[in-house]
Amino acid sequence: MQVSEKVPGKVLGQVPGKSTVRAGSNIAFIKYWGVDDATINLPQNNSISMTLADAHTTTTLEWLDQGPAATDAITLDGTPLDARKAARLVRHLDRIRALAGIDWRVRVVSQNNFPMASGIASSASGFAALTTAACHALGLDLTPTRLSALARRGSGSASRSLFGGFVEWERGHDDATSVAHQLYPADHWALYDVVAVVSGAEKAVSSEQGHGLAASSPLNAGRVASVPQALAEVRTAIAQRDLARLGPVIEQDALAMHAVMMTGNPGLFYWQPGTLEIIQAVRAWRAQDGLQAYFTIDAGPNIHILCEEADLAAVQARLATLAAVQQVIVSRPGPAPFFLDTHLF
Ligand code: DP6
Repeated sequence: MQVSEKVPGKVLGQVPGKSTVRAGSNIAFIKYWGVDDATINLPQNNSISMTLADAHTTTTLEWLDQGPAATDAITLDGTPLDARKAARLVRHLDRIRALAGIDWRVRVVSQNNFPMASGIASSASGFAALTTAACHALGLDLTPTRLSALARRGSGSASRSLFGGFVEWERGHDDATSVAHQLYPADHWALYDVVAVVSGAEKAVSSEQGHGLAASSPLNAGRVASVPQALAEVRTAIAQRDLARLGPVIEQDALAMHAVMMTGNPGLFYWQPGTLEIIQAVRAWRAQDGLQAYFTIDAGPNIHILCEEADLAAVQARLATLAAVQQVIVSRPGPAPFFLDTHLF
């Protein structure tokens, strides 16, 4: 198998052709919401997240020496995707084909270990795994930074899943500079993300559409202006493993993001009644019982609760008493994407 000389990355002597990668999803402490340039997912602001060990996507990808007449065959969670559902993934594969100067098609089998509608970002882990597997199987020796930039084109939050532990995605100013880097490795702090699922329904408006609406909210400029101070607080809180310092900042940014969503044109309302019930419960546990637990919410109704190991059992026991909670998923901080010997096909 030959890879074109147009490849800017180093081509390994032995081109594997097939690769299996596992990548963790991530939960953002300071959110990416709104793009300044949608063609490259250039965000309005830096974001900070924790990569998840226990919520991941495993992807096996094989390049097939077939030209454009053939189609990419992609199976996700056991279901072969039709052309419409595969379109976003095929567009991403087209970027990698253009980078490598090839027109080969792929066979992909991808498996999430968490339910798609759990409020855990499958696009982050999915695009991180797909990008890493596709480049590795071509023998492209790209750095994690370059893979982060490439994954960002598929899904913004995927740029952060190229690194393990606690990660910051720098807004940058163009395709090469808008990349993530690690702040601290996963073993820096045993923080837990406890996801309380209140609804498994598929969301009506995707994050991709939502990013384009952020600028239509009169609150957007205020939120973006508040981010530098919040980022500084979050960096310090993570450095000091100080949840009492981290928690209020992440709650405020999640609420600010949802205020922007709700007040755009059209407004997006991702919450369900159970969302508010859990927000109020977490605040009451803290105020009345001193339980150190803080929430954040992505583009959906489900709540992510951050706590340390000492409080994990109490958080789980309390969530089990709430009627709104359908399912609970727990994850620790996790590693960067890694290769597996066992292929999915
Ligand atoms: C609310 O990365 O899912 O989870 O770039 O369109 O794939 P696309 O959007 P996506 O947006 C993530 C939004 C968020 C906040 C975050 O993870 O920072």
